[in-house]
Amino acid sequence: MSEADRERWDARYGGAGLVMGAAPKAAVTALLAPHLAPARGGLALDVAAGEGQTGVFLAQAGLARVDLVDVSAVGLAKAQALADAAGVGARVRLHPHDLDAGLPGGLAPAYDVVTCLHFRPSPALAAQIAARVAPGGLLLRTALAAAHFAGKGDGPSPRFLAAPGELAADLGDAFEILALVEGAPDGPPDSQLLARRRA
Ligand SMILES: C[S@@+](CC[C@H](N)C(=O)[O-])C[C@H]1O[C@@H](n2cnc3c(N)ncnc32)[C@H](O)[C@@H]1O
Repeated sequence: MSEADRERWDARYGGAGLVMGAAPKAAVTALLAPHLAPARGGLALDVAAGEGQTGVFLAQAGLARVDLVDVSAVGLAKAQALADAAGVGARVRLHPHDLDAGLPGGLAPAYDVVTCLHFRPSPALAAQIAARVAPGGLLLRTALAAAHFAGKGDGPSPRFLAAPGELAADLGDAFEILALVEGAPDGPPDSQLLARRRA
């Protein structure tokens, strides 16, 4: 990522209030939440965590530690404030880091829950993210879907848009797909994947 991109995210998060809101995304509450009970007391990783709504939800759901990775220190500071206000501030750890260089050092070898929402990692980074899911652990990913925005003019840059099938690509037999939603022209704007690593 260029320095200009980092500055753009810092500026976006720099105003008062939360740009993305305090509530977790529907993919978290509808897809992931029903499967979280076995992960209570475990470790979670949120990649491109932004202002921390997902991480705070996971800490409140009983995950003992949630690592938040994002290039924006401003966004992560808001995540810490959100966690503090929710009474789970001691359970989140901030990792300001440019994911263009892959996952940062200082993470655990494996996590019970790994999330990466509204972010399109490179194939190499996607493989690193999947590799951090512990046996029996959960992987939740969402990304804006190319199919939804095709032909709609001034949509997001193509570099942010996931191709059909992209989220499940390369998971192979190591994962069981629990839910897969593909964005569509007249359907959801994002594609969503929930998978469990086979034990
Ligand atoms: C659309 S936001 C999504 C944030 C959060 N996952 C959510 O659902 O609200 C994308 C996030 O990716 C982060 N980001 C973009 N490029 C990055 C990079 N190269 N390294 C780390 N974080 C990056 C931004 O700072 C931003 O917080």
